[in-house]
Amino acid sequence: MQGRRPYRVSNSQGGAWGLSEVGIVIGEARPKRIEFTSKNPVRVGDYVTVDTDDGSVLYMTEYFKNVSALLSESKDYLTADEARRASLKNPRDRVRIGVARALGLVRDLLNGKRIYPTVPPEPGASVEYADEELLRKIYGGHGDSWVEVGQLLRRPSVPVSVNLDALASRHLAILAATGKGKSNLLALLAKRVAERNGTLVLFDYHGEYRELNIRGLRFVSPKINPRHLNSEELADMLGVRKNAERQRSILGKVYTKDVINAANFWEALEKKLKDIVESEKAGPQDRQAAQRLLDIMRRALNVWGRIFDPSARTPLDTIANNRVNVLDVSDLTELQAQRIVSTYLDSILQDRKSALRGGECKFRSPVVVAIEEAHVFMPAGEDTECSETIARVAREGRKFGVSLIIVSQRPSKLDPDIISQVGSFAISGITHPSDQKFIREVTDEVSEELGASLPSLNPGEMILVGQFIKLPALVKTHMVEEKLVGRDLEAVRLWREEVSKPFAATEELMRL
Ligand SMILES: Nc1ncnc2c1ncn2[C@@H]1O[C@H](COP(=O)(O)OP(=O)(O)OP(=O)(O)O)[C@@H](O)[C@H]1O
Ligand SMILES: [Mg+2]
Repeated sequence: MQGRRPYRVSNSQGGAWGLSEVGIVIGEARPKRIEFTSKNPVRVGDYVTVDTDDGSVLYMTEYFKNVSALLSESKDYLTADEARRASLKNPRDRVRIGVARALGLVRDLLNGKRIYPTVPPEPGASVEYADEELLRKIYGGHGDSWVEVGQLLRRPSVPVSVNLDALASRHLAILAATGKGKSNLLALLAKRVAERNGTLVLFDYHGEYRELNIRGLRFVSPKINPRHLNSEELADMLGVRKNAERQRSILGKVYTKDVINAANFWEALEKKLKDIVESEKAGPQDRQAAQRLLDIMRRALNVWGRIFDPSARTPLDTIANNRVNVLDVSDLTELQAQRIVSTYLDSILQDRKSALRGGECKFRSPVVVAIEEAHVFMPAGEDTECSETIARVAREGRKFGVSLIIVSQRPSKLDPDIISQVGSFAISGITHPSDQKFIREVTDEVSEELGASLPSLNPGEMILVGQFIKLPALVKTHMVEEKLVGRDLEAVRLWREEVSKPFAATEELMRL
């Protein structure tokens, strides 16, 4: 149906930007919202134009219903069957109503400005499909700040671009149900940032971004310098339980200046703990707690040794300018990952502040920081190791060129103060009522009607709104083909392959 629609090419005389009439404005028309009746269904997310006294206005269809008066009430089967036949013979029985929201005056949109009409169209005005050439002009990119991320879902021949300048100065939230393509969009944006030699730091919570086909991709094992932690923070990082008071108090006592400054940090700390274990003066409970601490410390160094680096100067040493830096936090505990996010974000913000004040710095240009599974790092109503730092970057980052990409499947579980600083959104598949409500609250671009269509979107189909796109759009984002980790697993094929393996192994053994 979509491919067969005869879209007219733009009118060079500046005439109407609509095509053939699809409907008629009815009911109470307002400048920003119209209702229309149509002969055929119009898809949610498709564009129409209507003439007003201010000029031609572009609208997006946000809701559409198809009603038969004869078939409206619940009926027994026979009556419904008769009603169906009567309805087919009587075209007036089929009422198709659409609701569309004004996106702006066509004339101004073509000049890059978004001006709303001040008058509604006349009831009875003609509703026409918007011309594809017009949509291409609006959604296409102009200059190298714009990068293509997909095409309009309802007009597949219209490419959609987003503005990387806006992304790198105002924050973006990618909010979508699980499996709807959040990580795919982040991978796509990472590729686009890399194409423009941008700096991106991506906290990879599930170890999914290693195989991205990006020139110069840096895969980084993040580092924490234990000497920069206080004893409570060190206890958290080593995995000492929050309520293990005796262990924490002993760590506090042995974590002295000479340990912090020792040439071999871990050896010095271990020696102090051993001294307590072997001390005759210490009580049995303290000796036991010190022994437990030794065990915890050895285990922590065994499992997470790579993140502790007593010689790391600043975390910035591990990441590079003008590159996509993927920081693997997939094997870490939540507390450790939070600490890493906090340390890196804080250093990046300080560095950018220094850069703008003309001081010593590493990053002379803006840095974008992406946080996957953001509800772990900045949950609503709860402080974490990094929530204060993220909040600071959300508030101040714009001025210093540090921006956030926040990714989550549970928007309503995110700190609303941080999200209130976000200027752009990519949204899909949100079903939970509290999440839908949250989205309506944080962006007035997603109306109740448009929000109701969210659950029916397929993977990769997203509503993009806010500063990084010229107008709200329902977009089919490009798929990043090489991103394999994080895809739905084909369980049956994997089981089949798995059971075939032992046989091969047995045969091989028999051959030996
Ligand atoms: N733009 C797209 N076009 C087509 N399919 C897509 C697109 N984006 C994602 N998908 C499909 O959806 C799957 C899940 O995508 P992705 O891992 O990005 O989802 P997610 O929202 O990050 O999920 P999770 O919440 O589990 O992290 C992909 O493996 C792919 O099969
Ligand atoms: Mg994901």
